[in-house]
Amino acid sequence: MIIGIPKEIMQGEKRVSAIPETVKKYISLGATVIVEKNAGIGSLFNDSDYIKAGAEIENDVARIYNKADLILKVKEPIAGNDFHEADLLRKGQYLITFIHPASPANHDMVKKLAERGVISLTLDGIPRISRAQSMDALTSMSTCAGYKGMIIAVNDLNKFMPQIFSATGMIKPASVLIVGAGVAGLQAIATAKRLGAVVYAADIRPEAAEQAKSLGANIVDTGVPASVAEGKGGYANDLPEEYLLKERQVLKDAISKMDIVFLSALVPGKLAPILLTEDMVKIMSPGSVIVDISIDQGGNCEITTPGIRDVKHGVIIEGIKNIPGMLPVSATSMFASNVYNLVNYLMKNGSISLDLNDEIVSSILVTIDNKIVHAGAREAMGI
Ligand code: NAI
Repeated sequence: MIIGIPKEIMQGEKRVSAIPETVKKYISLGATVIVEKNAGIGSLFNDSDYIKAGAEIENDVARIYNKADLILKVKEPIAGNDFHEADLLRKGQYLITFIHPASPANHDMVKKLAERGVISLTLDGIPRISRAQSMDALTSMSTCAGYKGMIIAVNDLNKFMPQIFSATGMIKPASVLIVGAGVAGLQAIATAKRLGAVVYAADIRPEAAEQAKSLGANIVDTGVPASVAEGKGGYANDLPEEYLLKERQVLKDAISKMDIVFLSALVPGKLAPILLTEDMVKIMSPGSVIVDISIDQGGNCEITTPGIRDVKHGVIIEGIKNIPGMLPVSATSMFASNVYNLVNYLMKNGSISLDLNDEIVSSILVTIDNKIVHAGAREAMGI
């Protein structure tokens, strides 16, 4: 089997889907690995590191797509200056990457993958079950986003995070509220605690609130009963309007005292709930910071500008996307391991073999035999 590792073409994307360590492992599985020239440079891996690990380096990306049986990427196929990545893929060729197939922005690309007969598998579909943990790139990337997102907030803050004792007296520590204590939120809590802030957390799922508490956060009770908050598989539910209003009221009381509000609330497969309205932002102190990492799903704050840092009503609002890309070395090493574990799981006797009845395979499969089979994508496309 030939595995192709193209350089990511999305602007500012520094991650890469394989590192020399995973290249070695693919080779020991019997694969040949072709890496595009300079593919790892953004994550500080040189071509010579890949060559030492046994990879071939190729200058012409089209040749990589031509030769490979399996293409490993980080981001979904997009249009570059000279070509659309989806047009380089062919019938029967495997693609493993984040595809986010339900997102309307990706529908045309997913249709193209189906038309071309590509067998595409999306990493955002990996189920959160214990045997798939080592393949769960979404969790790895949320860990990066929770940590780096909090660091971004601290960097924006015009104050100390920890309590400071100096000759001029005592300076109070910053107060930080994390809304949505999932993978990213818990990492943000741990990071803010390590930096010495007084940390508060709110989540509608009692189990998430419990985990936040065990990391030392003070719990802000959202007032949403567990029976309303929790749905299938223990995931959060989309809240009925009545409870959403209640939660906003609770958060309104809390945020006026906060220096940082970190937003990471999400209901799987849905748009992110709006938990901070513009009126609520107006009551925050000037110079306070909101980091809205749910921006890919529309954001938890009504007035976050997607993709940029903005200042509104005196509050700094971070709507940066691709936070893991700002931590490329750690993010790449976690991502590349997740991808290797998935490929290793899918390989039988030296090539990929898909068991369509397997829960992991059926959750990640997007296109096969010229059809779109991903349930979320089909629903979003009205198929
Ligand atoms: P997760 O599913 O592990 O956690 C989301 C949490 O939000 C859950 O604990 C859930 O109970 C909670 N929640 C849902 N509705 C809520 C409500 N009304 N009030 C309070 N809490 C509520 O998700 P994860 O992996 O932690 O990701 C969080 C967000 O971060 C997602 O939107 C994800 O796409 C985003 N993300 C952003 C990145 C970036 O670069 N901007 C990178 C990685 C993740």
